[in-house]
Amino acid sequence: MADRVVLVTGASRGIGRAIALALAAAGYAVGVNYVARRPEAERVVDEIRARGGEALALPADVSDRAAVEAMFQELDGRFGRLDALVNNAGIGRRVAALTAIDDDTWRRTLAVNLDGAFYCMRAAIPRLRAAGGGRIVNVSSGAARTGGAIGAHYAASKAGMLALTARAARELARDGIAVNAVLPSVIDTEMLGEIATSAEARERLAAQFPIGRFGRPEEVAQVVRFLVAEAPAYLTGESIALRGGRL
Ligand SMILES: NC(=O)c1ccc[n+]([C@@H]2O[C@H](COP(=O)([O-])OP(=O)(O)OC[C@H]3O[C@@H](n4cnc5c(N)ncnc54)[C@H](OP(=O)(O)O)[C@@H]3O)[C@@H](O)[C@H]2O)c1
Repeated sequence: MADRVVLVTGASRGIGRAIALALAAAGYAVGVNYVARRPEAERVVDEIRARGGEALALPADVSDRAAVEAMFQELDGRFGRLDALVNNAGIGRRVAALTAIDDDTWRRTLAVNLDGAFYCMRAAIPRLRAAGGGRIVNVSSGAARTGGAIGAHYAASKAGMLALTARAARELARDGIAVNAVLPSVIDTEMLGEIATSAEARERLAAQFPIGRFGRPEEVAQVVRFLVAEAPAYLTGESIALRGGRL
């Protein structure tokens, strides 16, 4: 049995990978969820183990309720408890005009980003209660407030995560479960390829931020680590934006 356990969804690469490594460094055994890229997820697990930590790769499409439930059971079997959940798995295919969003894109984006977060929260809450409290962090996006650059489907899914965060924070406060959201603006991961396809476009986009660059996955992970491993239970229902000064 591990002392403290966290499940990070979409932890094979990008922001989720950085969060998994940061929480492992903070002493958590980490469930490293992914959907397709097994070698990447295994590499994250290996990296954590090489540093003396504990981790387990957990394949599951978070939009698939049965797969989510099976994933939590696998985590139970391996670590025997759950102290925190980070809903980070997400997709965002750029479709600039709302009128150009087809049904599949709309449904798939909502299914992964919003249904996925809901399914994972619903499965996690009884386990967090059993552990005597815990933390949930939802990786939303600045797009939830501004509309963003990917499209209305993505912005709506991320805004939905803020409502989930607010409602769950109210509901779970007396159980010692704090629920917060982080709202990154533009972070340098594969997803950035959706909104800036050339070096020139990247430069133009980065220049929109007073800090003069995109955020790094490790910077988001630092905030998540604070919310999971250090912040008091009284800090709940909050959204923390990482936006490089672009207000
Ligand atoms: N990058 C940004 O600028 C930015 C800004 C604001 C918010 N965000 C949010 O931050 C989160 C991480 O973004 P990122 O930039 O790190 O993305 P990324 O590099 O594209 O990585 C996405 C991660 O999500 C996983 N994933 C995708 N669909 C999944 C599904 N159906 N079930 C389970 N896992 C799934 C992927 O797994 P596989 O490797 O197996 O495919 C991968 O681990 C997302 O929620 C994104 O919306 C990103």
